[in-house]
Amino acid sequence: MRTPIIAGNWKMFKTVSEAEAFFAEVKGKAERPGVESVICAPFTNLPALVKAAAGTTIAIGAQNMHFEDSGAFTGEISGPMLKELGVKYVILGHSERRAYFAETDEIVNKKVHAAFKHGLTPIICVGEKLEEREAGKTKDVCKTQTEAALKGLTAEQAAQAVIAYEPIWAIGTGKSSTADDAEDVIAYIRGVVRGLFGEAADKIRIQYGGSVKPDNIREFLSRPNIDGALVGGASLEPASYIKLIEGAV
Ligand code: G3P
Repeated sequence: MRTPIIAGNWKMFKTVSEAEAFFAEVKGKAERPGVESVICAPFTNLPALVKAAAGTTIAIGAQNMHFEDSGAFTGEISGPMLKELGVKYVILGHSERRAYFAETDEIVNKKVHAAFKHGLTPIICVGEKLEEREAGKTKDVCKTQTEAALKGLTAEQAAQAVIAYEPIWAIGTGKSSTADDAEDVIAYIRGVVRGLFGEAADKIRIQYGGSVKPDNIREFLSRPNIDGALVGGASLEPASYIKLIEGAV
């Protein structure tokens, strides 16, 4: 009922020429009926990628945006700027932005509203730190972050959003969550969404992220509540990205 969504998060990797070379290799291969393929690239790559993706089923996403439409915010990019480019998705509240750029739950919520205002689909990241996991607070943290991020949305908007559950200790460490643990937390997050928006919880897609690779993606996606993956390192090489999409079908 929910189409799985595999999104590569390139983080701060790839120049424009590298992005173009990547796309030329995955075009026609990282596309499969029944799975949505998304590449979230640095801002500088977006015009070239949107152009290259025309006529394909691969969607292009950004990794951040400001919540204001315009203004004196040196170095920032707004929703209207992304929309005009033809970008479809935007990652919001990634743990790296929360940790290194002081993004709070309130800021993430403003960005989520701004994304919907401009017709962009947010991929909202939530997830616990290692010490929070060890203290048994995983679900509390995810509940707080999910409720805060979705605050004030309509049920229709919530149904369209994507949430990425990314336990911080699993990001870039090669140490992924088990599929059972991820399923348990993601089912819980879906329950939180149900508490807020009722049946929209059956439509919202919730991904797992954190050391997803071609050899473990199938296991994650076999779980009933896991609707895809947000992938960092393993999305950077064309052959690996193609395998991720193949593994999701
Ligand atoms: O947003 C995806 C990311 O944080 C996971 O990174 O390298 O562990 O797949 P990685």
